Amino acid sequence: MKVIRVENYEQVSENAAELVLREWQANRKIVLGLATGATPVGFYRQLIERHREEQLDFSQITTFNLDEYYPIARNHQQSFYMFMQEHFFRHVTIDPARIHILSGEAADVEAECSSFEHRIAATGGIDVQILGIGQNGHIGFNEPGTPFRSITHKVILTDNTIQANAHFFAEAAEVPRHALTMGIETIMRSKKIVLLASGKAKAKAVQQALHGSVTEEVPASVLQNHPDVTFILDREAAAIIGGESPYAPTGDSCWIEDNRR
Ligand code: F6R
Repeated sequence: MKVIRVENYEQVSENAAELVLREWQANRKIVLGLATGATPVGFYRQLIERHREEQLDFSQITTFNLDEYYPIARNHQQSFYMFMQEHFFRHVTIDPARIHILSGEAADVEAECSSFEHRIAATGGIDVQILGIGQNGHIGFNEPGTPFRSITHKVILTDNTIQANAHFFAEAAEVPRHALTMGIETIMRSKKIVLLASGKAKAKAVQQALHGSVTEEVPASVLQNHPDVTFILDREAAAIIGGESPYAPTGDSCWIEDNRR
């Protein structure tokens, strides 16, 4: 696994955008796996800025989002569909037909999940998957205990997750009780994985993901088994991973620590 250590959130976002744009320059038809939540907002902001400044045309890329609440109306203010519109899609040239987000309105959940898997496979697979990480090590909505062999599926949200998300809704009772999410195996099939983390609340999960035992109790620890993973961490998120590597300046010239064992 590679670790890019930077100073702060802004630099996490800049480095993530730089990495993805480099991949996109090599392949304009790149298939991107995208995340929601607080962490990738700065990354999307960077992509939007670069798109405006350099007139980048993203119309050939295909995207698959990690997850969506269930049930939830597509146009609900808190749906991940709306999040993506607001933070990224509506600001760039992107082909709506190439955007794939699990439907929180699907009547047949199994059919929706299996169609999502088929659509990923039909594109040739995800080239670069962006991930955040939960404080308990979750990736996507795959909470501790999720089998590593899982593919796209419906999950019951834990009370913790419901409480953590409650402030986005009028009241906790409004938070959907379920979600649809790529499974761990779906994520692991991506050719390249880039995990972003910022802030001290993520330090323990990052340490366990990088250096802890590979266990279903820490979903992100599975990434140790993937051949091409990059963690981009700010000083606080990297606080307890050890190592002496200097902090990277922004941009291309990042210090890269190779901790593969
Ligand atoms: C988002 C997702 C989640 C988040 C994680 C971190 O699509 O699947 O796994 O990446 O909960 O969330 P933030 O970035 O809000 O701390």
